[in-house]
Amino acid sequence: MKPVPHIAALAPYALADLAPELTSLAQNESLRPPSPNALEAAQRALAETHLYPDPDWTDLRAAIVGVHAVPSEAILCGAGSMELIGALASAYLSVGDRMVTTEFAYLYFRTATQLSGAAFDLAPETDLTVDVDALIGAVGPATKIVFVANPGNPTGTRIGRGALERLRNGLPDDVMLVIDEAYGEFADGLDAGVFDLVGRGNTAVLRTFSKAYGCAGLRVGWGVFPPAVAAEMRKILNPNNVSGVSQAGATAAMLDQEYMQETVRETAGIRDRFIERIRAIGLGVPESYTNFVILTFDSPEDAIAADEALRADEIAMRGMGGYGLAHCLRATIAGEAAMDRAAQSLERFAGGQQ
Ligand SMILES: Cc1ncc(COP(=O)(O)O)c(C=O)c1O
Repeated sequence: MKPVPHIAALAPYALADLAPELTSLAQNESLRPPSPNALEAAQRALAETHLYPDPDWTDLRAAIVGVHAVPSEAILCGAGSMELIGALASAYLSVGDRMVTTEFAYLYFRTATQLSGAAFDLAPETDLTVDVDALIGAVGPATKIVFVANPGNPTGTRIGRGALERLRNGLPDDVMLVIDEAYGEFADGLDAGVFDLVGRGNTAVLRTFSKAYGCAGLRVGWGVFPPAVAAEMRKILNPNNVSGVSQAGATAAMLDQEYMQETVRETAGIRDRFIERIRAIGLGVPESYTNFVILTFDSPEDAIAADEALRADEIAMRGMGGYGLAHCLRATIAGEAAMDRAAQSLERFAGGQQ
C-alpha cells in the first residue's frame, strides 16, 4: 500500500513532550476550567447522546450572535478551529497552489496546506511581529490564501485593525485572507474588531473556545465566512462535527461572558508579573496579548539548557525549534503558584549561568 506522495512526505504533527509528573506550560490551555454553567450544560447534554448533534449548531450560533453581533448565517462551527483551518485549505488549495503566512505563524497553517497538496511561502516578521509589507510582498500569482494569526502563536504579539485593513487592501481581491483570532478574547477591547471585514467577500475570521473560554477538550471553534466560502466549507465539514455535549458546553460558555472576562483578567495579571520577573533576569520577552509568553535566550544551547533545568524542576515549557526559534521557549500562563515555580526555576538557572 502506498499513501499519496504529499501525505507520505509529511512529518507527523509535533506534539508537546509531556511526562505525567510535569506541570504543563506547553499547550496554551486556560489556567482554569470552563465556566461552571458550561460544565453543567455539558453534563445535562450527556443524556441526549443517543442522538446525533444539531448539524446547524443553532443554539451555539445564537449565543455567538448575541455577543459578537455577526450575521448568524455567516457563522460555521468546527471541531476546534483546526477543523475550520483544514476545511479552508481543502476548499481553496490544491497541487500547484500556494499559501502565504508569516515566518513564525501557527504551524498548522502549513500542515493544512501540505495536506491539500499545496505549498507555502513564509513572509519575514519584524521583532517577532507580523510585517504587513512583507506579507504583501510574499504573495505571487499562485497564492490563494493568506493566513495570519492575530495575536500570533507562538509570538504573542499582535497588529492593529489599521494594519489588517492595509493588508487586505494590499492583497489581490481573489486571494482569501484568513484572520485567526484564537487568542482574540485576550486582545478584545484594545482595538476595533475585524468581523466586518468578512463583508468584503474574501476575508474570514476564526475564533475558538479552546483558549479564553477554557474549553480546549470540548473541541469547538467557530468562524465568520462570506456566503460563497461558507457554502464550500459546508461540503467539507463533517455534518456532525461538534458533539451535542460540546455544543451545549460552548453555548453556556459563550453566554457566561463575565466568567471568560475574569479568566482573561486573571491571566493577564499573572502574565505581566511573570514577564517582569523574567525580564529582570535578563531574558528577552516581547509584550504578549495572549495566555502565553515567549522567552528569548542568547542561543539555542541556552534555551535547551533552560528547558532541561525547568524539566528537572518538573515544569514543561514548549521548545520552539519547529518554528525556527530554537533560542526561545514558550510558556503558557498557568496559575500563580505554577508561574512562581517557573520563575524561580529560571532565576536559579540564570544565577547558575553567571
Ligand atoms: C493560532 C491558533 N489557531 C488555532 C488553534 C487551534 O485551536 P483549536 O483547534 O483548539 O480551536 C491554535 C491552538 O493552539 C492556535 O494557537
